[in-house]
Amino acid sequence: MSVKIAPSILSADFARLADAVSAAEAGGADWIHVDVMDGHFVPNLTIGPPVVAAVRRVTTLPLDVHLMIEQPERLLEAFAGAGADVLTVHRETCPHLHRTVERIRELGMRAGVAINPATPIESLDEILPYVDLVLVMSVNPGFGGQKYIKTSTRKVARMRQRLEGMGIHNVEVEVDGGISPLTAPEVVRAGATVLVAGNAVFNNEASVATNIAALRNAVRG
Ligand code: DX5
Ligand code: ZN
Repeated sequence: MSVKIAPSILSADFARLADAVSAAEAGGADWIHVDVMDGHFVPNLTIGPPVVAAVRRVTTLPLDVHLMIEQPERLLEAFAGAGADVLTVHRETCPHLHRTVERIRELGMRAGVAINPATPIESLDEILPYVDLVLVMSVNPGFGGQKYIKTSTRKVARMRQRLEGMGIHNVEVEVDGGISPLTAPEVVRAGATVLVAGNAVFNNEASVATNIAALRNAVRG
């Protein structure tokens, strides 16, 4: 599986979202990562289906929608209608995870399951045959610009080994939080195939295209 770069628009200027998404697309992004937060599961409150629909109108890239919300099953139809391509729910928010994942797929989207830094990878064993993507959080979800939690690299490696051990070779392993040209190489070596990057892409230091190129170069092997 090729390594995909998914800029997180959480770090973009929300008043100029279309420009940010266009810059990411022109700069070589593979997916656009959209962070949905409800002020309950995580302290922060961000965006919902209407903004996803607005982003859908300005890009042809896959929309990778990360739901950091309680009871995500209530909003699966709304995000499908808004144009999400990959819909990821948190293990910690879903008592009926199999039903939720099956519903995401029925709605025509790819299904992802995310785990917080302290949630063990073993808690995903029973759902792995049913998902398209596993998201290993490398910060505690809620905010952009946090420091990469170093033990995440080992966790990604164990996640990839666990999938391989179960004979599952086509599931994306995504890493989210504190990814930069400094941390990206080790997570890719560990088996990550999707890199989410917020502050490393949208910042005042360099252009979006330059920042995406720096990430790409860092993981080119
Ligand atoms: C954190 C979000 C991330 C965030 C990453 O809760 O899920 O997607 O935008 O931002 P950086 O790359 O700045 O850590
Ligand atoms: Zn995210």
